[in-house]
Amino acid sequence: MKPLIAGNWKMNGSLAANEALVKAMLDGLGGQTPAADMALCVPALYLAQLQSLLTGSPIAWGAQDVSSHEQGAYTGEVSASMLKDFACRYVIVGHSERRQYHGETDLQVADKAKVALAHGITPIVCVGETLAEREAGQTEAVVKRQLAAIIHAVAHCTSEIVVAYEPVWAIGTGKTASPEQAQQVHAVLRAQIAAATQHPERVHILYGGSMNAANAASLLAQPDIDGGLIGGASLKAADFLQIVASAH
Ligand code: 13P
Repeated sequence: MKPLIAGNWKMNGSLAANEALVKAMLDGLGGQTPAADMALCVPALYLAQLQSLLTGSPIAWGAQDVSSHEQGAYTGEVSASMLKDFACRYVIVGHSERRQYHGETDLQVADKAKVALAHGITPIVCVGETLAEREAGQTEAVVKRQLAAIIHAVAHCTSEIVVAYEPVWAIGTGKTASPEQAQQVHAVLRAQIAAATQHPERVHILYGGSMNAANAASLLAQPDIDGGLIGGASLKAADFLQIVASAH
């Protein structure tokens, strides 16, 4: 299985900046097939722009959230069928910033993953513990609880999800989990997936949290780290491409 390196632009970008960034990435690839599958998860407003810039390229695109509802009176929400209109391959669900600032629960995140799959969009499901939870020895219990909600909701489609382990204390802090710390949690997640599907090896388990050009290779060398979900470093073409190149 080829690794997957996905960028999460979060709430960054502009028409002009996006065009420059995407063009620099495509130029950097120089028509070569990248060492990893690549995707950019961008603010929903820019999906049309990414579709036009990336169609026919090796870089896929996706969104950062989706409504758990199909349609209707949900002001401000974006539905899975709308994302599909713009040929999104991926959608991030349950990012810790959404759990933290928008109060998303395990159950809501699971519903979002289910709706995405029903529309043929691969959910990138984020799990991860806070610093307080890690210090209290609850890391395994927290990530298992978060993933269990997803597995319960998507059932026989478990092999079609992407999981991203993002320790909250490592996001945007410059504090990366050590390769050993990350591998330990990834192994737990892999075992949980193996208990739910016959094809645990098909599920990408990404690491996210201050992954950058300098530390990517050692993280990606771990047996159960199948790629990365990259925040800050996905906003710099050279850094993002360096991370992609270190994945093999
Ligand atoms: P940083 O790479 O900026 O730490 O963000 C990680 C992340 O939250 C990706 O979803």
